[in-house]
Amino acid sequence: MEQLMEYARRAREQAYCPYSHFAVGAALLTADGTICTGCNIENASYSLGVCAERTAVFKAVSEGKRKFSAIAVCGAPEGESPDKPCIPCGACLQVLAQFCVDDLPVILSDGVHPLKEFLPVRFTMTEQE
Ligand code: THU
Repeated sequence: MEQLMEYARRAREQAYCPYSHFAVGAALLTADGTICTGCNIENASYSLGVCAERTAVFKAVSEGKRKFSAIAVCGAPEGESPDKPCIPCGACLQVLAQFCVDDLPVILSDGVHPLKEFLPVRFTMTEQE
């Protein structure tokens, strides 16, 4: 858990956030034991920016990894230590929930939370999903 958070902290160093100056890092532990990291990547066309968690999920899925065991997330204003919990945004929770069980451990700076604590229900198109 602490090791995964260390990966998230390292990923946060790559955050590209010239507009918000809020740097976020995420690290996903995949079922095969590898770690996929991501950072937030902003854009001059503001709404095109992407969060750290979705960067990590999209990297993993594009490499054939669709099963995840845990995610660590840390975020804080650039230059500050990410000591306060950075709860994933609703869009990232929906994307995570597509690939994760309800009780996926979400590791934040204040401890471990099950995914369902933040997203008790999610959108699906069919009951099978
Ligand atoms: N951000 C993330 O990377 N993850 C979240 O869950 C919430 C917010 C990013 C998006 C934007 O680049 C910056 O934090 C400020 O909102």
